[in-house]
Amino acid sequence: MDDLPFVLRAGVLHAEGVPLPVIAQTVGTPAYVYSAAALRVAARAFRDALAPIARKQLAFAVKANPNLAVLRLLAAEGYGADIVSGGEMLHALAAGMPASAIVYSGVGKTRGELAAALDAGIGQFNLELEAEGEMLAALARARGVCAAAVLRVNPDVDAGTHAKVSTGRKQNKFGVAYEDAAAIYARLVTREGLNLRGIAIHIGSQLNDLGPLEIAYRRAGALIRTLRAAGHRIEHVDLGGGLGVAYRPGDVMPSAQAYGAIVERVTRDWDVTLTFEPGRFVAAAAGVLLTEVVWVKPGASHPYVIVDAAMNDLARPALYEAFHGFEAVVPTGQRMTANIAGPVCESGDSFATAREIDLVEAGDLAVFRTAGAYGATMASTYNCRALVPEVLVDGDRFAVVAERVTPEAMLAHQRLPFWMGEPVTPRRAA
Ligand code: LLP
Repeated sequence: MDDLPFVLRAGVLHAEGVPLPVIAQTVGTPAYVYSAAALRVAARAFRDALAPIARKQLAFAVKANPNLAVLRLLAAEGYGADIVSGGEMLHALAAGMPASAIVYSGVGKTRGELAAALDAGIGQFNLELEAEGEMLAALARARGVCAAAVLRVNPDVDAGTHAKVSTGRKQNKFGVAYEDAAAIYARLVTREGLNLRGIAIHIGSQLNDLGPLEIAYRRAGALIRTLRAAGHRIEHVDLGGGLGVAYRPGDVMPSAQAYGAIVERVTRDWDVTLTFEPGRFVAAAAGVLLTEVVWVKPGASHPYVIVDAAMNDLARPALYEAFHGFEAVVPTGQRMTANIAGPVCESGDSFATAREIDLVEAGDLAVFRTAGAYGATMASTYNCRALVPEVLVDGDRFAVVAERVTPEAMLAHQRLPFWMGEPVTPRRAA
């Protein structure tokens, strides 16, 4: 998937039909900018690649981008949601996703979250441990309902991705151990209040090799046979998410078609409804982080391009050494080699080291590419910086779809204890 909706027209980078300087003038920087067209293209590409799968449910991994407008758009594309918290449930429901099209994953669902999800009529619970199944069954019985659930199994497969986003090794916290799965299944399936109807699997994110995924899916197939041989009814299998995207120019990633072909091959005789939980594949290329160069500062070996976006706005480079392409909004054709960093007071607040980039100077606009997934949602207010706003472009139109949360608003949430008096209202110098 390339970032085609973000292209140069007459020398100026546009988001679809909107010049990015117009958005910068209207909204300020830094700001996330999403392309509706790109979201639709990716959502359809994923669906089309799974065309041979007759019974399927597409559940967008809300954690990748919980913006209400993004979720509303994906709901219109026929996507439900994969959620991991009560907060994500709130977002998916508010976007208009039917509760029945929501699956609830996550290793630490609380009693309160499970109860709220039952009350909302969430379609399926992906159980991460036996005790969670017991708790869910009891909560369901108390309400006179029956909770549809699947058991998440840890297949012990190395996904070959960054350790921080790998989830399918047995030392990871996710799912029940493969060798314990059949016994746990046999106990939970007898619980009144629980309609245990299959299994779930997810081995990690940003997978650049489908080999481990195929191994994991084959292990799931073997477990399905074991469970059926023991007399269990297996009707739903959740295959998780994880399909990676290209971040660097020249990155060659597995296509959605290649993924679809593996799914078709491995699951051909499973006779189940398959659930898919793509996040990054749908949203990553559909977003950029728009930023302004504050300074170009001399450095020991290369100049520092200091931008007004920082690790609190886009955490992926600091957390995972992730690469995000950097481009000037009005490139001159000249190039420079530079380090790119934000204003936060940590050396970890670095986006690139010794990278060849478009020549920029103070006041220029630039973008970090492929920031539509795990971007805004991972933002924080570290250094008392504003929470970055989000903008959705659709053709020639754009709208702010998440306001900048200002330091003033953040301050208004804080309180002094009664023994400390009142906050000081800042006065301007005369
Ligand atoms: N399903 C489950 C159970 C998951 O844990 C995840 C991601 C997904 C689906 C969606 O995976 P995707 O299709 O997006 O790869 N913050 C990290 C990524 C963390 C992913 C966590 N789980 C990053 O910025 O790379």
